[in-house]
Amino acid sequence: MHNEPDIRVAPVEASHRPALLRLRVHEPQRDFVGDIASLLADADSCPSSEPMTILHGDTPIGFYRIETQARCITGGDFARPTLGLRSFFIDRQWQGRGLGAPVLAALLGDLALRHPQARDLVLTVNVRNTVGIALYRRAGFVDTGELYHGGRSGPQHLLVRALSV
Ligand SMILES: CC(C)(COP(=O)(O)OP(=O)(O)OC[C@H]1O[C@@H](n2cnc3c(N)ncnc32)[C@H](O)[C@@H]1OP(=O)(O)O)[C@@H](O)C(=O)NCCC(=O)NCCS
Repeated sequence: MHNEPDIRVAPVEASHRPALLRLRVHEPQRDFVGDIASLLADADSCPSSEPMTILHGDTPIGFYRIETQARCITGGDFARPTLGLRSFFIDRQWQGRGLGAPVLAALLGDLALRHPQARDLVLTVNVRNTVGIALYRRAGFVDTGELYHGGRSGPQHLLVRALSV
């Protein structure tokens, strides 16, 4: 018997949208991620943005976007083929159950399949987001030491994770 959570990720489908639109973060976390309706609308209008559903079984429990143009993240270019991770969150009712690491593992596994050419994954995370920073570091992200000042809620660290070749 195994106790692995039944987590997978998939591109947003029309059938996911009603449940996605019900997802919420805790009030103080709204500094770190926009509301889902805006995130979906923004992703829909941006051809280089891939909106993704985080599923527990068949239930949408979270969301993120993969930016195929990583310069969307910082405005700068990267030396190696690089993807960006944005708008990552798990619904407040599903937080605190140890799903963060399995979700990131599923996300990375999906990138290896659908973006095998990519060498790095970058993201920005608010300097006050200690839970997010700790989770990303455990998943192999490294702080570049750069501070990014384009965030709407204050400075953000720029983190990078090498993807498997
Ligand atoms: C970051 C996030 C995805 C983590 O999801 P999660 O389901 O809470 O993750 P887990 O349950 O796996 O917990 C991860 C760790 O954070 C800790 N943690 C979770 N919520 C916490 C809280 N409110 N306060 C303190 N620690 C917390 C857990 O104890 C765990 O630590 P451990 O592995 O040492 O036990 C979630 O908090 C979230 O969606 N936050 C809002 C959006 C956000 O900040 N996204 C990142 C933008 S860059």
